[in-house]
Amino acid sequence: MIRFLTAGESHGKVLVTIVEGFPSNMPISSDYINSHLKRRQSGFGRNVRMKIESDTVQILSGIRFGKTIGSPISLLIENNDWANWRDVMNVDQKSADVKKITIPRPGHADLVGVTKYNFDDIRNSIERSSARETAVRVAAGSIARKFLEHFGIYIGSFVESIGGIYSTNDYFSQLLQNKNLFEKSGWSASIKADKSSVRVLDQKQEKKIISKIKTVKKSGDTLGGTFITVATGVPVGLGSFMQFDRKLDADIAFHFMSINAVKGVEIGSGFYSAEQPGSQIHDEITIDKNNFNRKSNNAGGIEGGISNGLPIIVRAAMKPISTLAKPLESVDLSSMKKVSSRYERSDFTAVPSCAVIAESMLAWVVAKHFLIKFGGDSIEETEDNYTSFTKKSINRIRKGFKK
Ligand SMILES: Cc1cc2nc3c(=O)[nH]c(=O)nc-3n(C[C@H](O)[C@H](O)[C@H](O)COP(=O)(O)O)c2cc1C
Repeated sequence: MIRFLTAGESHGKVLVTIVEGFPSNMPISSDYINSHLKRRQSGFGRNVRMKIESDTVQILSGIRFGKTIGSPISLLIENNDWANWRDVMNVDQKSADVKKITIPRPGHADLVGVTKYNFDDIRNSIERSSARETAVRVAAGSIARKFLEHFGIYIGSFVESIGGIYSTNDYFSQLLQNKNLFEKSGWSASIKADKSSVRVLDQKQEKKIISKIKTVKKSGDTLGGTFITVATGVPVGLGSFMQFDRKLDADIAFHFMSINAVKGVEIGSGFYSAEQPGSQIHDEITIDKNNFNRKSNNAGGIEGGISNGLPIIVRAAMKPISTLAKPLESVDLSSMKKVSSRYERSDFTAVPSCAVIAESMLAWVVAKHFLIKFGGDSIEETEDNYTSFTKKSINRIRKGFKK
């Protein structure tokens, strides 16, 4: 069973994670992790913080000569901006000129945080609830992603909409129709999306979105959006219906909902399927040379909590950023009077980054269930178990039931 924990505040000195449970002898490099960290930082609509930070991982343990050695992998990312926040984030003592934050932002974790943890300074809530933490999640997810690539499993994503602007080309429906949209590799979706500053696949849509972000920026507002994440090459049999907490779709939904500002997750045709008759939704089963396939992929690659061998398709919704330059109503906790909410440096939209974070979460969940099924202390042992299942065990059902 793989696991990871993260630590670190948004403007603290560093972010860290300990990743545990991956087999030995698996190649991994800082460059590989950094390439995904860079992807997370990009996207039109982010604030200047992303120009200050240039996220670079330091691998502190668990890797020797470019390969895992089975021990816990610890990863560290420095916050460059900490240099400007030394007093505010001082570990030992408070300087007299550090002011408390007393006005909570609607839609953020400010008010619930101070209420729950009995803080008298909203800064204590802001620091850990910030999505800055997702940088180390992407680092941890990159280990999972590298592991999956060894078995031909590729993860990618693209932004479907920002501020309600969609492409006229319905890529999502094409995916559900089981069309070979990304040359059979989820990663090729990301290769295409990464060429766009808002990670969309359609240039006309890109122009409209950029213009909308500019307008919204001027008016002090923010935008959310939707994005699609895809995993290809996932074998049949990950997850289980034998217990509720072993279901693959349930675990994916949990990990996606854990991403800051994600408010909705659908697997396959999700909410749309609720409006259609069964005959239009359930993926008909076909057979070709004793290989099963489906005419469509409305189930998004998962049936009964188990991967069915088709691409896993997850659609998610991110709400608009809650820190607005155009103030909303709030209450000053020092005077308990009605005031306008506070503004601090903030993104205008972060849907492109959110999609990259979601890739890491999907990689994590798929790697977790892959290792639950196939296990192995070394990558060679995992390979043996995987090959035995995909080459031998699966063939039993391909021959059909015994007469
Ligand atoms: C990549 C990314 C960047 C974000 N940037 C900001 C930001 O600059 N300002 C802000 O108010 N919220 C930002 N958010 C959203 C908040 O972190 C989030 O709304 C907050 O933690 C409250 O959690 P909730 O929205 O899940 O309830 C960002 C989220 C993500 C995924």
